[in-house]
Amino acid sequence: MNPNKILLIHGPNLNLLGTREPEIYGKDTLADIDEKMTQKAEELGLSVETFQTNHEGALIDRIQQAAGDCSGIVINPGAYTHTSIALLDALLAVDLPVIEVHLSNIHRRESFRQHSYTAKAATGIIAGLGATGYLLALEAMAGLLAE
Ligand code: DQA
Repeated sequence: MNPNKILLIHGPNLNLLGTREPEIYGKDTLADIDEKMTQKAEELGLSVETFQTNHEGALIDRIQQAAGDCSGIVINPGAYTHTSIALLDALLAVDLPVIEVHLSNIHRRESFRQHSYTAKAATGIIAGLGATGYLLALEAMAGLLAE
């Protein structure tokens, strides 16, 4: 187990950031976000491992592997936020601090986006602040780990 390693998980369609509905999700690409997170992690004395997939089972497999390997998870589960009890169960099972991030403010969008299954496993949630939300999540995670 690496006490300073944070797993950053990006769910479905987030590989398209930059071109996907930029008026909602911003102009940063996923690579831009990952780079900012790597830099921020260094500043905080942490390291970040990033993982993106469009597949629900692959997300679950990666979360299960995080047990015993990472100290915390920052996750944007994409649309699986609103549908996946399996993802919630995986996050509960690993028993690590979890921070859920959404680029958009899901609470001012369509009603089907306003409920998060995965949030039940999260220590905290950040929504609506674009890419900055990930950086704030990492700062918050550093604080949680230092407690
Ligand atoms: C999202 C919000 C979800 O409703 C959507 O399906 C996404 C991105 C966000 O970051 O705002 O894919 O998680």
